[in-house]
Amino acid sequence: MKVLLMILGIVVVAAIAVVAGCRIMASRSTEATVALTAKLPGKIAVVYYSQSKVGNTATVAKWIAKHTGGELVTIEAVEAYPDSYGDTLKAAEKDMENGGTRAIKAVPPLDGYDVVFIGSPIWYGTYAPPVAEFFKTHSFAGKTVVPFCTHGGGGAGRYFVDVRKACPAATVKEGLTIRGSNQIERRLGTGVTVHHTEDDIVNWLNAVF
Ligand SMILES: Cc1cc2nc3c(=O)[nH]c(=O)nc-3n(C[C@H](O)[C@H](O)[C@H](O)COP(=O)(O)O)c2cc1C
Repeated sequence: MKVLLMILGIVVVAAIAVVAGCRIMASRSTEATVALTAKLPGKIAVVYYSQSKVGNTATVAKWIAKHTGGELVTIEAVEAYPDSYGDTLKAAEKDMENGGTRAIKAVPPLDGYDVVFIGSPIWYGTYAPPVAEFFKTHSFAGKTVVPFCTHGGGGAGRYFVDVRKACPAATVKEGLTIRGSNQIERRLGTGVTVHHTEDDIVNWLNAVF
């Protein structure tokens, strides 16, 4: 009987610990606890493209804008990619074969911004074609560019090297790589939009500026 009561006690304590842990994690994912100590120079734009329904890159862009006071600028394709993941893969592959860009809705020039965060999902190891079009149609001379990306498990690939190549006249800062949910997780209904919290973003900002 004593042993039974002891086991029961351990189970109850463990259950309480799990619930408390989940609560802490849930609050960590919505509230930053790390303070932004960095003072970012000048006027800031947070430009991003995000394609999937869960919006991994959009989530990170919003966190960056929240903590930097930057203005969110969304890149949108004129012709949106298909809803199905498989069809998007095919359409993106076609874009890659045809010069790597895709027409985008007008994004105003970056005049007046000193710091430009630029975010993309990783597609085939680099930025998505709408972001390639954004680089082609905008000038980054004299600006500070801060790249960030989300990926489905394969990492940042060539993204940071390609961003540097796309804006040679800018000062490009150390970028941020975030693992986002992938197709398998979405199908299974598991995982979270991004496998990180706002704290990671604030820590990165503090390290970069
Ligand atoms: C066309 C396409 C290509 C992709 N290529 C890669 C890749 O090379 N490496 C990787 O890790 N994830 C890849 N992914 C997964 C996305 O990078 C990942 O899910 C991302 O977080 C989606 O961001 P979003 O929600 O902002 O669209 C690809 C997704 C698509 C649709």
